[in-house]
Amino acid sequence: MTIADQLTGSHRRPGGLLQDKVAVITGAGAGIGQVCAAVFVNEGAKVLAADLSGGQEETAAALGPSVSPFRVDVRREEDIEAMFARAAEVFGRVDILVHVAGIPGNRRGPEITAEEYDDLTSVHLRGTVLCNKHAVRAMLPTGGGAIVNFSSAASLNVDERISMVYSAAKAGVNSITKAIAVQYGPQGIRANAVAPGFTLSKKNFAAPPEIMRELSGKAALGRAGQPEEQAHVAAFLASDLASFVTGVVVPVDGGWSAKLA
Ligand SMILES: NC(=O)c1ccc[n+]([C@@H]2O[C@H](COP(=O)([O-])OP(=O)(O)OC[C@H]3O[C@@H](n4cnc5c(N)ncnc54)[C@H](O)[C@@H]3O)[C@@H](O)[C@H]2O)c1
Repeated sequence: MTIADQLTGSHRRPGGLLQDKVAVITGAGAGIGQVCAAVFVNEGAKVLAADLSGGQEETAAALGPSVSPFRVDVRREEDIEAMFARAAEVFGRVDILVHVAGIPGNRRGPEITAEEYDDLTSVHLRGTVLCNKHAVRAMLPTGGGAIVNFSSAASLNVDERISMVYSAAKAGVNSITKAIAVQYGPQGIRANAVAPGFTLSKKNFAAPPEIMRELSGKAALGRAGQPEEQAHVAAFLASDLASFVTGVVVPVDGGWSAKLA
């Protein structure tokens, strides 16, 4: 089954929302980022699929000539600069950044170690700052663009199962998103964040069944999300249909964040 074949039901729709836009997507080697690449291509975009894992090659091979793979470590500024240069070289310009790359936190509360703090903040905070910085630089000469950062429902409130540093770093992603929106709105750059609830990217299939049941049950809709349910919101926010939407954090969590617990 190809990545595009994984799009189910109403998510498999004739596209065109992003016709001829050029998108850089980080974290495009797996999970939500990979499905974002499939949805964006279906909507007519050209995509630089960037990841650290090597999975970006699989994404590009599966999705065809509209996708070019790129190896990036979002903790490294020189990689990020090269990523935007590569997108401009291959596709001529950069209209969209979808910054999905991320890692989960393993330790809860005060069990956190300094090493895990450094890992989480370097990927989520440093990575978001640097990817947004270079996206802005790439977009300004062509009159603007759209940034969609992947945050988390855990940025909005806490859950005892989720690392406090992951939550704090994702809250930082929300702040960075708003800062970019406010500072660069006058120059035509929109920035928004998607805050997923528990979503069935492949890595979450490995969760023990009781955790899977418990986290799925957190949503008002009583189920986990699918990666394409995240990707379509990202596509909307990146598209001209969202031309008056900037500086917002959109929970895509089946109603989890609307509940008291
Ligand atoms: N799946 C969920 O339930 C969920 C919930 C809330 C938020 N999120 C967020 O959504 C995003 C995607 O989650 P996912 O479930 O698809 O994760 P995933 O682990 O399936 O995919 C993440 C991708 O990011 C890449 N990556 C990690 N570190 C990187 C680095 N330093 N440089 C470049 N690439 C790097 C990985 O190689 C991987 O391909 C993440 O930011 C995550 O925090 C996910």
